[in-house]
Amino acid sequence: MDGTELYRKMMLTVSGSKLVERMTLKYGKKMARKFIAGDTLTEALEETRRLNQLGIMVTLDHLGEGITSLDEAKGYKEQYLKLLEGIDEHKVNANVSLKPTQMGMALEREACYENVRAVAARAKELGNFVRLDMEDSPFTQATIDMTLRLHAEGLNNVGTVLQAYLFRTAEDVKTMMKAGVNLRLVKGAYKEPAAIASQRMSEIMDSYKKIIKRHLDREIYTAIASHDDRIINWVKEYSTRHGISKDIFEFQMLYGLRMNDQAELARQGYRIRCYTPYGTMWYPYYTRRLAEKPSNLMMVLKNMFK
Ligand code: FDA
Repeated sequence: MDGTELYRKMMLTVSGSKLVERMTLKYGKKMARKFIAGDTLTEALEETRRLNQLGIMVTLDHLGEGITSLDEAKGYKEQYLKLLEGIDEHKVNANVSLKPTQMGMALEREACYENVRAVAARAKELGNFVRLDMEDSPFTQATIDMTLRLHAEGLNNVGTVLQAYLFRTAEDVKTMMKAGVNLRLVKGAYKEPAAIASQRMSEIMDSYKKIIKRHLDREIYTAIASHDDRIINWVKEYSTRHGISKDIFEFQMLYGLRMNDQAELARQGYRIRCYTPYGTMWYPYYTRRLAEKPSNLMMVLKNMFK
């Protein structure tokens, strides 16, 4: 295990501690702000407009995960319906990303399905798109099944995410491509056991490039979500060399990270979308960002003293 992998594991473990969580919630909001567009929908829409002016598209995420009641899930469904109306009303270039567990996936699958379906159906009426983020492995199959079921119902404005670190992903990519599901491809952000997920960055990179290439070669639209220059430069170089249009893929990055580079990609004519979270439930999202990279932690610490 190299230093980066060790750091990631350590941070994911530390952030799971209740004490660390309590301390961070009490003292850490200013630091977390760097990665969050605001507490409210109004703030998020203002920030979306600002990003759009730089040529950056947006996917808005109303933060929330690990809920404990179906009432909470219903509340999030309502928030997403408001979000879709807000995007429509303010005519900003944004779609939405949501977490299946936020809609109740860990509590009751059918109730979750109904919540997500309501959001997807309204999005379809408004000509918008819904991305089901991929969470940890207990939800992989259920998220895939839900996406396919929504497609079978005609809600083809729903896509999901596949994670390069999972061994199963190569097969899942084939299934999803066959069903015409729009995918976001990522390395994977959760702590997963070695039995089901690669623990080595070199293997994850190989798997990631393979699934990206599969899309590019067939000119099937995909989203490549990474801050890694080795991936971004490889995609640019590969697509140029093979005459693949810039319109058949988009890069995605997270709000608060590499913002100048996001604008630069837009200036170069690439499609780039910024994953922009808002809301008050920021702790799990924030700690995953810190775990990804020591420099994210450094950036937060520097920000703390500004
Ligand atoms: P990684 O953190 O592996 O860093 C590799 C290299 O990239 C670094 O060594 C450095 O050179 C460069 N780099 C990284 N960050 C940089 C920075 N801020 N500035 C300069 N250089 C930097 N995961 C998941 O499991 N489910 C999901 O649904 C999603 N959704 C999602 C959406 C979007 C838009 C993004 C960008 C990511 C996700 N992820 C995700 C997270 C994803 O799985 C992964 O954990 C992170 O993107 C980290 O991997 P990277 O490839 O970005 O770089």
